[in-house]
Amino acid sequence: MMKTLIATVTTTLMLLALPAFAAHDKPAGYRYGDGSLATAPYTLEDLELLKKTVLFTGEDVKWLRASRDVLEPQAEAVLDTWYGFVGSTPHLLYYFQNKRGTPDAEYLARVRERFRQWILDTADANFDQDWLDYQYEIARRHHRVGKNRTDGATGPDHIPARYVVGLLYPVTATLKPFLANSDYSPAEIDAMHQAWTKSVLMQVILWSEPYMNRGDF
Ligand code: HEM
Repeated sequence: MMKTLIATVTTTLMLLALPAFAAHDKPAGYRYGDGSLATAPYTLEDLELLKKTVLFTGEDVKWLRASRDVLEPQAEAVLDTWYGFVGSTPHLLYYFQNKRGTPDAEYLARVRERFRQWILDTADANFDQDWLDYQYEIARRHHRVGKNRTDGATGPDHIPARYVVGLLYPVTATLKPFLANSDYSPAEIDAMHQAWTKSVLMQVILWSEPYMNRGDF
């Protein structure tokens, strides 16, 4: 019991102590728009139909873009919240372990930098071919076809689909207080939150492709 408590506190402190990343740098392993990515197996037309399916409209683009100025100054606090959750949830922290079975601090730090960039990219809401190709890359990085390769990590090589889909709730629910920490009205905060929820839902759907049998996506 005491051992588990010490391990949880140590991990949480370790995660919170990770260095802030300068906003203008591109994180290591970040390849959005660099022209080197595989073309996604879904098209911009598929994306348009997916947007219609989840009721994502031009209003959502507007509110995602409005959220950037609210979230960017709070990005490290948002990441502390998300990493705090993963770090204190052993069956999720497991996927950030090294081959010795302990949390891989370097892996956690490098992924955190890209996660920070992802907050900004999601708020930017530029749904073009580069964005689609990077969705496919993120999909592959959660699945055994691509996990660990970007950072040379040595731990578990695959994250089960059920956890990737399931994390949508904590990620989007915990965002709301950060959106509310702004001058926007409650209705506008709700509009930003809904837009975020729909965008993350669409991304998680796109990330599910490598997990499915051919023809099922
Ligand atoms: C809504 C669900 C999720 C979101 C929004 C999310 C978001 C992200 C983002 C933005 C990245 C970095 C992508 C990049 O390389 O540019 C990433 C990587 C990663 N995520 Fe997730 N994730 C989700 C679910 C999960 C779950 C359930 C786990 C399990 C602990 C997890 C563990 C990881 C790991 C280990 C990496 C690094 C993969 C690698 O490149 O080796 N993620 N995630």
